[in-house]
Amino acid sequence: MRFRVRPVRRLVGTAVVPGDKSISHRAALLGALAEGPTEVHGYLEAEDCLRTIAAVQALGADVSRKGPGHYRIAGAGLEGLHEPDDVLDCGNSGTTARLLLGVLAGQPFCATLTGDASLRRRPMGRVTGPLGRMGAAFLGRAGGTKLPLAVRGARPLAALAHASPVASAQVKSAVLLAGLAADGPVSVTEPAPSRDHSERMLRRFGARVETRGTTVTLAPGPLTGTTVHVPGDISSAAFLLVAGALVPGARVTIARVGVNPTRTGLLDVLAAMGARLERADAGDDGEPVADLSVAAAQLTATEIGGALVPRLIDEVPVLAVAAAAARGTTVIRDAAELRVKESDRIAALARELSKMGVRVEERPDGLAVAGPQRVHGARVASGGDHRMAMALVVAALAADGETLVEDTACVATSFPQFAQALNLLAGTDAVLVEEDA
Ligand code: S3P
Repeated sequence: MRFRVRPVRRLVGTAVVPGDKSISHRAALLGALAEGPTEVHGYLEAEDCLRTIAAVQALGADVSRKGPGHYRIAGAGLEGLHEPDDVLDCGNSGTTARLLLGVLAGQPFCATLTGDASLRRRPMGRVTGPLGRMGAAFLGRAGGTKLPLAVRGARPLAALAHASPVASAQVKSAVLLAGLAADGPVSVTEPAPSRDHSERMLRRFGARVETRGTTVTLAPGPLTGTTVHVPGDISSAAFLLVAGALVPGARVTIARVGVNPTRTGLLDVLAAMGARLERADAGDDGEPVADLSVAAAQLTATEIGGALVPRLIDEVPVLAVAAAAARGTTVIRDAAELRVKESDRIAALARELSKMGVRVEERPDGLAVAGPQRVHGARVASGGDHRMAMALVVAALAADGETLVEDTACVATSFPQFAQALNLLAGTDAVLVEEDA
């Protein structure tokens, strides 16, 4: 599949984005591990999160779809899951793989995980290391650090205080999930706080979780099923918000977006760049929600680094597009993690944006983008990375001339209705979806 994108002169109206990917994964996993039923509303029905549902079903959780985004999970409890009778395929989803490894570490059976070519390249040692110290056994490629990986869990696992070298919610969550089946408390200390959806949701399911500074501690124990309302995904809203900031005359509102402060680095950066942003708070049911509006404005450059980076790690591709339109040099540092996402996003941004005439300086831990630069229509490719595909579309909307973005089936990973959402705001087919012959 490919997107043929024409520049737009209009982007007006209110859009909704699908449910938050991180929160959806956690709802499926905790629902499966809990005692009693869990109802999930607004679940992200995109490939990554459907992989997590398929995995918990293969482990014996009973999941039924009640309507669009509405799932009922009859929890199996910490002791009710069973050995899967086939390999668990996590597709493109790092969150499925890493969080599932945490769950499986505490299950006294054997399971094998694999994924697509991108996921099989991504580092798993950051979770198999601490989980191995808790007592789980792993066998896999590259010394047990790459998928496919076999895991043999143990129960109880040993308590652990883990100092993670990276600020990673996936690492933190894997250790906390394993900690449910440990014989004492587990704690994870990070160099900077990563997203805290696991901590919030574990508490909602009745777990004892304490946060002090950058250390999170969980006491082992059972979970009780509950109801989860998944807000819109700010990482999907990000593409529409940046498009709204860049397209001249645009005015866009995204309704009911999750604005957990560990995820809102994009809003802080856009505000610092001079974007005309408004936020109307719309409740807090465990996760804060707001309507976000943006109107076009001339942006100015900014610096992004340190503790801000984990708060916007998935938004860097689209922020690089905003940086190209901003006056001055935008520098993104401390973001080497981008090299081990669905693709090496630092290299991919430099390579693909240069095809559109945008010069991006590639650095080991980030990027420098001098602006404003004119963006030209071109033929570019996502490299199979959903966020690269969508960031390139946003660049194309404000370009001169038509752009062909190739290899776009991957948007189904997180935002299957992305092209339709943009076309509604544009009032025209700005993004033509071309299927493979
Ligand atoms: C995620 C955490 C982030 C993010 C990913 C989803 C999660 O990764 O990039 O898209 O749901 O925990 P890390 O925090 O592991 O870097």
